[in-house]
Amino acid sequence: MIYPILSPEEAADFVQNGYSIGVSGFTIPGNPKVVPAAIAAKARREHEAGREFKINLFSGASTNEPTDGELSRAQALNFRTPYQSLPEVRKHINAGEVHYNDRHLSELAQEFRYGFYGKMDIAIIEVQSITDDGEIVLGTAVGNSPTWLAKAEKVIIELNEQIPETIRGLHDIYLPLDPPYRREIPIYTAHDRAGTVTAHVDPKKVLCVVKTSRPLGKEEAFTPVDDVTRRIGQNVCQFLIDEMKAGRMPKTFLPIQSGVGNIANAVLDALEASTEIPAFEMYTEVVQDSVLGLLKSGRCKFASTCSMTFSHEAMMDFFDNIDQLHDKLLMRPSEISNNPEIIRRIGVVSMNTAIEVDLYGNINSSHVGGTRLMNGIGGSGDFTRNAYTSIFLCPSIKKDDCISTVVPMASHVDHTDHSVDVIITDQGVADLRGIDPIQGAYEIIEKAAHPVYRPLLREYLKLSNSGHVRIHPDLALSFHSTLARKGDMRLTDYAEFFKG
Ligand code: COA
Repeated sequence: MIYPILSPEEAADFVQNGYSIGVSGFTIPGNPKVVPAAIAAKARREHEAGREFKINLFSGASTNEPTDGELSRAQALNFRTPYQSLPEVRKHINAGEVHYNDRHLSELAQEFRYGFYGKMDIAIIEVQSITDDGEIVLGTAVGNSPTWLAKAEKVIIELNEQIPETIRGLHDIYLPLDPPYRREIPIYTAHDRAGTVTAHVDPKKVLCVVKTSRPLGKEEAFTPVDDVTRRIGQNVCQFLIDEMKAGRMPKTFLPIQSGVGNIANAVLDALEASTEIPAFEMYTEVVQDSVLGLLKSGRCKFASTCSMTFSHEAMMDFFDNIDQLHDKLLMRPSEISNNPEIIRRIGVVSMNTAIEVDLYGNINSSHVGGTRLMNGIGGSGDFTRNAYTSIFLCPSIKKDDCISTVVPMASHVDHTDHSVDVIITDQGVADLRGIDPIQGAYEIIEKAAHPVYRPLLREYLKLSNSGHVRIHPDLALSFHSTLARKGDMRLTDYAEFFKG
């Protein structure tokens, strides 16, 4: 190998205060595992010596503990984009210590190429292998690595010896040209390959290779499906069956996007068990453990994804069975896995989770109480706005019934009513297609809201100013302010808002 082999600490020494750093991966898979933590250690030493040391961090999506966790604990993050999901990072963002730009995941790579973020000093990329002429087999995710490899001035390679050679062939590396030269992306079904098996870097840019054999996959187990999430999964399944019966969904079915977490797991469990839904394809940004089961059983015929968001156990299972999965999986860059043009063309049915929904179908995915960032918009906007049918899922109540996820007005809006077709909770299916906003509000109250909150929501509509939509300026956030004052939205008393 022509590249110097260095320790993580030696590699971290290339990173200087104020640098913009791009990291590989998308959610935990594919992230570098040792160099970011060594940068955090360097930051601590610099701070102890009284020197400023912060970096700007660009990723594919959320990252792992050694990256976002260590860097934020070391107060080493100045700017962060496009997405995060660790409590430690969100604490610093919500305290105003880290500048966070919450972006659509499909857009960051092209925005970087357009020059919106300045230059990238160093990219740190986890790989399975690199040749002397710069041919790279990536690991368990693609994320924005192809763009980082092209745009970064220098590159540090983390070569993870845990990634088997047999992963070669599972990546589809395709980057569109930028306007005014962009043409259609040649993907017409979830299983079309558009690009190459390997990524490429100019070997002259490679500062060093750091060898690791850190384990792959998430350490924490997924939360098991419970009664509420099971009911949501069953409601989704029934909705899709009804769509087929009504002729709105082709009998051959359409590709599915589903997020991560226990609601997504419950939906996939229900789809696996259904005898009425045919085997289907997925066009999605992450596949989690349940999808591995679906691929092995044949219920999922093909999964196009950006990342293998598996637990450690499932990752080992995936590696053991990788030969049988080569014709069933492709990993693509985020700007392709989440690409609006393809999502619209192939008719993806999107399913994402909401923090809260309002009476008109506006969705808050990112900010609890309108101010506290949870994770970010992630890929939900890429899919929702362009889906064949866009579905939002959430339990109707949370925290021992004290929180209604259906509120008079969302405290923050990530997805407007114009993009949202259907809201499904444990209570049922609110279908907003083909009706007006006030009909939609009653549909949401009667089908999606929890019965405990329905009288309050109906009353809100009665008290509100009438127009094409109904809003009461004093009561719109009454559920939120009651939660803040009394800890329980059920105690909302509209009369209190008119006193004084
Ligand atoms: N009011 C107040 N607090 C709320 C709330 C609400 N309406 N909804 C959630 N919360 C709080 C919960 O109580 C919980 O707090 P805790 O950690 O103190 O218990 C926290 O917010 C997270 O809620 P939870 O229900 O556990 O979230 P989740 O794991 O089901 O995730 C999202 C829901 C919306 C946060 C998550 O799906 C997300 O980040 N989505 C955006 C990204 C996305 O959609 N990506 C595309 C698919 S991968």
